[in-house]
Parts: sequence; C-alpha cells; structure tokens
Amino acid sequence: MKLAKKTAVQFVENYARVDCGLLILGPCGVAKTHLAVAILRALVLRHGVAGVFCDFRELLKTIQRSFRPDIAMTEAEILVPVLKSEIVVLDDLGAERPSQWVRDTFAYIINHRYNQKRTTLITSNFSDRAPARDLSGDGTGVFGEETLAERIGERLRSRLYEMCKEISISGPDFRVAVKSAGILE
Ligand SMILES: Nc1ncnc2c1ncn2[C@@H]1O[C@H](COP(=O)(O)OP(=O)(O)OP(=O)(O)O)[C@@H](O)[C@H]1O
Ligand SMILES: [Mg+2]
Repeated sequence: MKLAKKTAVQFVENYARVDCGLLILGPCGVAKTHLAVAILRALVLRHGVAGVFCDFRELLKTIQRSFRPDIAMTEAEILVPVLKSEIVVLDDLGAERPSQWVRDTFAYIINHRYNQKRTTLITSNFSDRAPARDLSGDGTGVFGEETLAERIGERLRSRLYEMCKEISISGPDFRVAVKSAGILE
C-alpha cells in the first residue's frame, strides 16, 4: 500500500511527463478507488486537468438505458466525456459479467483513448493471478477462478500493458478493518 501511494504521488508530481496511465489491481476494499480518486482530484486541483470519474458498471447501465426510445440521450453523447476528457478513471473494470457487448464497449473506449494518447486510470478486482472468487456477480456465491485477461479478453489485457503502469495492492479489506476497530457503526 505504501508503494502504491508512492507511485500515485510520483504520478501526480510528474504528470506533465507521464506517457501512460495506471492500472490499479487488488482484492476488494484495499483502497483502489480511493487511490484513483485521490490522483484524479490532485490532477484537477493542482494541474487544472479536466477529468472524469466513471464507474464502469454504471456507465454500461447508462448506455443500455439510452437504447430505450423514451431516453433522449444517445450512446455517443454519453461517451463524449469518457472519450474526450484529458484524464478518465474507469472504476471497477471487469465487475460486469463479460459479454461481447461489454468487451466491445470497453475496447471502443480504450482504443479511442489510446489513439488520442489520453491518460486512463483503471481499477479492477481481477488480477493476472486468479484467486478463487464469487463470479456470480449477484452475491449468490458461484465460486471460480478468473484472471483479468479472461474477464476482459487477451487483446485488451495486452493493450493495457502498453497503456498503463500497474499498481498491485494487497492487504486487508479497509471496510472490515475499520469496522473491527470500531470506527464505523
Ligand atoms: N487511506 C484511507 N484512509 C481512510 N479510509 C480509507 C483509505 N483508503 C480507503 N479508505 C476507505 O476504505 C474503504 C474501501 O476503499 P475503496 O472503496 O477505495 O476500496 P476498493 O479497493 O476500491 O474496493 P472495491 O474492490 O470493493 O471497489 C472506503 O470506504 C474508503 O473510503
Ligand atoms: Mg472500488
């Protein structure tokens, strides 16, 4: 976690010279989103960067809603800030059950940002090693093992190697630790 924080601080300090984003990986509750938001916030406040935070699952749901005839906003309009902002946080990549449409949507975003040389910060619970986890997506406890590459596809995983420096965080779940310490009700 200390190393993750150091990398984040360096990323912000050297932002003018950075040529890749960050891929923040780790199990749940180790502060991946916290770190990504802290970096985004620092870049916006200190460097005046225009940035967007985007929960990837929410984004997919918003796009799906736009397919309804009673929703005025189109998929293209929803994606504009995600494609064009100087910096984007895509939070919780892989949380959505992988389907061809989900992969295609991610590929579209990531390829566009790659071609435009825009910085992307990504967080995911999936890693390159595969611990047993609940793969049901709905808490029903269908356990299995899946890597990030299996979740998003080999080609996109490969693209992320090029686009992002990896930060792997390990440690206890902050939410459990804080609760056990009696800080939260
Ligand atoms: N340095 C910190 N100080 C205080 N609270 C923290 C810190 N880092 C994380 N937290 C808190 O711990 C909790 C878990 O952090 P966070 O949501 O960033 O984890 P995560 O790795 O993104 O989890 P998930 O995989 O479930 O998305 C949050 O409530 C967050 O506010
Ligand atoms: Mg998170």
